[in-house]
Amino acid sequence: MDYEFQCIGRRAAIGLGLCFALAPRPASAQTDAARERPKEGDLLVAVTAAANPEPLKPDDLPRDGKQAFAWPMDPETKTVRNGSRLNKMLLLRLDPEGFDDKTKERAAEGVVAYSAVCVHTGCDVTNWDPDRQLLECPCHYSFYDPKQGGKMVSGPAPRPLPALPLRVVDGRLAVAKPFTSRAGFQQQT
Ligand code: FES
Repeated sequence: MDYEFQCIGRRAAIGLGLCFALAPRPASAQTDAARERPKEGDLLVAVTAAANPEPLKPDDLPRDGKQAFAWPMDPETKTVRNGSRLNKMLLLRLDPEGFDDKTKERAAEGVVAYSAVCVHTGCDVTNWDPDRQLLECPCHYSFYDPKQGGKMVSGPAPRPLPALPLRVVDGRLAVAKPFTSRAGFQQQT
């Protein structure tokens, strides 16, 4: 079942960041290209890009810099797949020297991609610890290691961040394979 999420009250200091699962989308809406999950061959565009966005290249990302956020885009129709929050990804360009084997396979010229949606309760993973080179979710302080397949280092997240394998096509970043696991969080029952 495909759930959308709405996040409210992101107050990291007092730990009140909370996302709610809304009603499942009807099956017909899931065929909308803008809502379909990233597909092999999709190009990537910055979430801040205006109309007719330029696909991202590895050099557009700062080396060892903070994560950037992107959407997948169908290369034929130019449909940006921003119809589902679960398609938002974060990108980092890092020194591949410290990557584990899986991360090396998934990276393209040092660029790694992960779901931007925390697997705890669905906040965006917006913080970057440059000293430890870890991703941090500001809501309840889950830390993820982007050099080790997005594995959870500390905090309440129950599993690694889903990775999105990349490749470079004609100098541009492209999706090589779908997310390695389901994007989003498990609804508590
Ligand atoms: S939503 Fe709780 S740690 Fe990310």
